[in-house]
Amino acid sequence: MISIAIDGPAGAGKSTIAKSVAESLGFIHVDTGALYRAIAFYLIKNNIKNAEDINKALKSINIKISFEDKCQAVILNGDDITDLIRIPDVTLLVSEVSKLKEVRKFLLSIQQNIISENNVVMDGRDIGTVILPKANVKIFLTASPECRAKRRYLQLQNSGINCNYDEILKDVNLRDIADTTREIAPLKKAPDAILVDTSSLSLDESIQKIIEIISNKLHS
Ligand code: DC
Repeated sequence: MISIAIDGPAGAGKSTIAKSVAESLGFIHVDTGALYRAIAFYLIKNNIKNAEDINKALKSINIKISFEDKCQAVILNGDDITDLIRIPDVTLLVSEVSKLKEVRKFLLSIQQNIISENNVVMDGRDIGTVILPKANVKIFLTASPECRAKRRYLQLQNSGINCNYDEILKDVNLRDIADTTREIAPLKKAPDAILVDTSSLSLDESIQKIIEIISNKLHS
């Protein structure tokens, strides 16, 4: 099986780029952030707050991801929650949830089962360092905080949502700190990952660049 790991900070465009790259390779795309979001969603729905209760709750959580037409759907205890995990409440809680050792352990086996059965492009924060240390290709995708905040600002404005650039930039910086400084599996570039900074690249240019890197690596 061939595996491509794409890691990077929030808002670097990982999922959009990984999805498109997977499509062009005929691989499945796994957005691992969705798994952490599924747990955060369950905790909100069941009003579970402290770490001890969260660890207990994991026994009642069954997460499956399915790939209809290679598109990822997240199934939590039999219900399709693919769209629900994008609500702001989940985004607010998920960084905290992803810090927990038991949560990361719980999701490790789900991720490794997928890899053993499919050619994948997997994106997240610890894919090249923890989940897929032997990935065929590792990419660390980044862009400046200002650039990521601007993209998010324009995305929200285009969807008719009123927002403030400075607030978004503050949120991007806070998420970076949370992701890079947590004790377990922090966001960091694997030593053998190729760094791609998309600050001055369009989406299409970023996708082309990554496809080029992968083809060169796979055929070298
Ligand atoms: O990419 P995202 O915003 O959907 O990720 C949600 C959260 O999950 C984010 O705060 C970091 C965390 N995450 C993680 O810790 N490890 C991963 N492999 C993927 C996401």
